[in-house]
Amino acid sequence: MFIGEAPGREEDLQGEPFVGRAGKLLDKILAAIGFKREEVYIANILKCRPPDNRDPQPDEMKTCMPHLLEQIYQIKPKVICALGRVSAQALLETSTPLGKLRGKWHDFNGTPFLVTYHPAALLRFPGYKKDCWDDVILLRSKYDELIMDNNDGDKK
Ligand code: URA
Repeated sequence: MFIGEAPGREEDLQGEPFVGRAGKLLDKILAAIGFKREEVYIANILKCRPPDNRDPQPDEMKTCMPHLLEQIYQIKPKVICALGRVSAQALLETSTPLGKLRGKWHDFNGTPFLVTYHPAALLRFPGYKKDCWDDVILLRSKYDELIMDNNDGDKK
């Protein structure tokens, strides 16, 4: 499960997360680690587009959080990846900068939780792509490890 920040203009129009430019890059990132978009669940912290694409405000995040928690509960993802600072800080309830949160595993109510750059940040600062690549490689190997454990469990 991937969790972004909030719908942008395109997402608002189509009612789907990550369908604009950042979404196209997310699709490429997913493809690079062998996931089709249909195989992952994509959500946002905010369910509505903030005016003028401003950062979500704390009260808005608080209002939308129960919806996201319900999505997580229903999906029961094997791993969660926060895309960008806003999502990572909101879910981990921290103000630690993204640079210190990414690249290692956190725990979200028992689910392995990873943080990486928001695809929109990668469009603006392509220099972050290498770190993002390292993060998603980590994500894929954890996912494979968990799938393997599951299959072993089935055989027993
Ligand atoms: N950025 C986000 O954080 N979410 C989207 O759905 C689109 C762009």
